[in-house]
Amino acid sequence: MSKFDVTVIGSGPGGYISAIRCAQLGMKVAIIERYPNLGGTCLNVGCIPSKALLDSSEHYHNAVHKFKTHGINTEGLSVDFTQMIARKADVVKQNADGISYLMKKNKITVFNGHGSFVSKNQILVTKDDGSTETVETDKTIIATGSKPSTIPGVAIDKTRIITSTEALKLTEIPKHLLLIGGGVIGIELGSVYARLGSKVSVVEFTDSIIGTMDRSLGKELQKICKKLGFDFYLKHKVTGVENTGNGVVLKAQNLANNEEISLEGDYCLVAVGRHAYTDKLGLENVGIAKDERGRIQVDGHLETGVKGIYAIGDVIKGAMLAHKAEEEGVFVAEVIAGEKPHINYLLIPGVVYTWPEVAAVGHTEEELKAAGTPYKSGQFPFVASGRARAGMDTDGFVKVLAHKETDEILGVHIIGPRAADLIAEAVVAMEYRASAEDIGRMSHAHPTYAEALKDACLAASENRALNM
Ligand code: FAD
Ligand code: NAI
Repeated sequence: MSKFDVTVIGSGPGGYISAIRCAQLGMKVAIIERYPNLGGTCLNVGCIPSKALLDSSEHYHNAVHKFKTHGINTEGLSVDFTQMIARKADVVKQNADGISYLMKKNKITVFNGHGSFVSKNQILVTKDDGSTETVETDKTIIATGSKPSTIPGVAIDKTRIITSTEALKLTEIPKHLLLIGGGVIGIELGSVYARLGSKVSVVEFTDSIIGTMDRSLGKELQKICKKLGFDFYLKHKVTGVENTGNGVVLKAQNLANNEEISLEGDYCLVAVGRHAYTDKLGLENVGIAKDERGRIQVDGHLETGVKGIYAIGDVIKGAMLAHKAEEEGVFVAEVIAGEKPHINYLLIPGVVYTWPEVAAVGHTEEELKAAGTPYKSGQFPFVASGRARAGMDTDGFVKVLAHKETDEILGVHIIGPRAADLIAEAVVAMEYRASAEDIGRMSHAHPTYAEALKDACLAASENRALNM
């Protein structure tokens, strides 16, 4: 029996980063992963493969729609979808190899198999061939992540009625992809296939896509997606989906007038959220409590009700994001080491990797209104940016919300080229509690997309954007 200071169950971004930080802090660490590849959802069936396909499909889309204007002829252009999927798999493999290397470098012992609690200090690892071994541990970090959810009347069969996992490894480009859910997964993967020529229909229960973000972003993104060939059925409740053998039929009810619609497609991607994954983890053997949504309950130190057992990432409350899981992984390692770390959850940015990208940090305008916070807003459109015009990327804007009296930046909401990278400046600014004027007075290289943030800050602070 092997004995460790800390054992991490699950090797996603929460788990493997936490294991590394524990090792850096001098602990003897084990990590248990039930799949052969380390990296979890994010690396294997989430962030990385989806971004690989988003990039490939964006190249194709640009070649079809933009290259001619740039003076580049692309006669005979076509998609080799098998190669596109193979490249994605290769990107995943390179990253998985990278994590295995990091485990070795940090002297972390990897156990391949399903982990489950026997007792507070003993975890049973069951391998694929049924053999078992027991890991003895002082502390445990649960980082078992999440799985796709579905809704009543929709049985995922993984052939025609699929989740993101199958959508990332289709063998053909759908002619008509039906999407249930206009959230992040639906819009990102819908974009991939729309760029490759699929007709994409989104059936969304609420009145907005990417509904957790500032409403202005969802509105703008919807316009952009429509240009790509998306059809939207907002305020529609899906009542059922049937696999007809070589296609699918989806039925939904229009919540405004109760009319029923029927859509035929070749695949239906169900993207209605994810739920915490704790199957066969043996939580009952140690008495760890879950909340009403099946998530592991933790306190302010991310410790469960059982002393010495912590939980992080998608399996607990909060945004289901890789970088949120990572921050929590580092946090717990440092708590165990006796340090006093802190996570500012308000400043965990959210990004949608469409093109243009969508990225935000801090409060939405709706939240500020609801809280009665006095605020002012400044907006700068990319169409007024020289850099964006040079790159033919003029859709979108930067919106900065600042406190009406103090000018402190309270929220930054961007839809535009490279928004995912631009948001980092807003995170730094807000972490240091900068005012909009602070950013407006700092030099931003010209010509860059980042100038749009500076101008939006000037617009918010003193209504004096320079380039508009
Ligand atoms: P996970 O990554 O889910 O890892 C949990 C691991 O635990 C898994 O490997 C699982 O096999 C293992 N495990 C579970 N139970 C056991 C057990 N009993 N024994 C052993 N091992 C076990 N987030 C972003 O921030 N940016 C993105 O661009 C992004 N894109 C995404 C795209 C898609 C299509 C999807 C589905 C998700 C995306 N996410 C993205 C979300 C992101 O993947 C998750 O928030 C993140 O992976 C959560 O990390 P985690 O470590 O908590 O869990
Ligand atoms: P989501 O929560 O983003 O979106 C789900 C959508 O489905 C919502 O708009 C919701 O209103 C809708 N919906 C729910 N029930 C419905 C019903 N019955 N009929 C029609 N619509 C319905 O969840 P999604 O897209 O599945 O993603 C899961 C998680 O993965 C997200 O929480 C996200 O954080 C993470 N993720 C992050 C990415 C990123 O950071 N770029 C990319 C992809 C996923």
